[in-house]
Amino acid sequence: MDDIVYEKVMHQVNKILSIDLESYKEEQMKRRLGSWLTRCGYEDWDAYFKFVLTSPEDLLKLRNFLTINVTEFFRDRERWGQIEEKIIPIILQSHSSSGLKTEGLRIWSAGCSTGAEPYTLAILLNELAPNKPHYILGTDLDKGALDRARAGGPYHIDEVKNVSPERQKKYFEIEKDKAYFRSSILKSVTFKEQNLITDQYEKDFDLIVCRNVVIYFKNDAKNEIYKKFHGALRKSGILFIGGTEIIPRPNEFGYKSFGVSCYIKE
Ligand SMILES: C[S@@+](CC[C@H](N)C(=O)[O-])C[C@H]1O[C@@H](n2cnc3c(N)ncnc32)[C@H](O)[C@@H]1O
Repeated sequence: MDDIVYEKVMHQVNKILSIDLESYKEEQMKRRLGSWLTRCGYEDWDAYFKFVLTSPEDLLKLRNFLTINVTEFFRDRERWGQIEEKIIPIILQSHSSSGLKTEGLRIWSAGCSTGAEPYTLAILLNELAPNKPHYILGTDLDKGALDRARAGGPYHIDEVKNVSPERQKKYFEIEKDKAYFRSSILKSVTFKEQNLITDQYEKDFDLIVCRNVVIYFKNDAKNEIYKKFHGALRKSGILFIGGTEIIPRPNEFGYKSFGVSCYIKE
C-alpha cells in the first residue's frame, strides 16, 4: 500500500471509528490492512468503505480486526504463576508493613479486551486476599469488547484452557464451547472506556498489567505510555507487560527490572 492510500485509509478509519492509526507501526499496519481488504473480497478502499458504512456488522468486524482483541484467562501461564506466587504476595506484604493492611489493592488491566485479564486478577485476589475492598480496573478503547467484559463473556472454551479444572468449576458456567464467568466476583471489576494514547490515567495503582497492547504501537507512543504508567503507579508499584515485550532501558522511565516481564517503580 502506498503512502497516499495509507493516509486516506487512516483518515477514514479515524472518521468512522475514531481510531487513530498514526500511533501504530506503519509497515505492520499496511500489511495487515492489505490482507484484510483481500480477505473481504475488495480491491480498492473506496468501495470497501462504501460497503462497511452500510453494514454495522461489517463495521464491527473492521473495528475488531484493527484493535486485535485476542485474549485468554491466565495468558502465558508461567508468567501468571509469578504474579500469583511472588508479585501479589509482595504487594500484600508491603501494604501490611506500611499500615495499609485493611485497604484493598488497586490494580489496572490496561487494554483488557473482553475482560479475561482483569477477571484473572479477580480470581487471584479472591484467593490470595479475600474479603478486602480491592479495586480492579479494566480499560479498553473497544466498546464492544467492554460490553462482553461486563457481561462476563461468553468466552470461547479455548480462552479458558489455562484455567485449572477446579477453578473452571468454581468460576465458570460452561455450555458446549462457550464459557461464562459467573462468579459472584464478576462485580469486583470496574470497566471503563479509555484510549491509552489520548486519555488521562487514574493514579495510585499497586499493579498495572498491560500485555499485548503496545506491541502494535510506534516507539514514541509506546514510550509515552510507559512514562504515563510510571505516573499512575504508587511508589514501588509494579508494571507487568507481555511475554514478548521488553523495556530496554527501564531506568529512563524510572523503573527497575523486577523479574521476567515485570518492572518496579523506583
Ligand atoms: C491483543 S488485546 C490484549 C488483551 C489482553 N491485555 C491480553 O493480553 O490478553 C489488545 C487490546 O488493546 C486494545 N487497545 C488497542 N489500542 C488501544 C488504545 N490506544 N487504548 C486502549 N486500548 C487499546 C484493543 O482494543 C484490544 O482489546
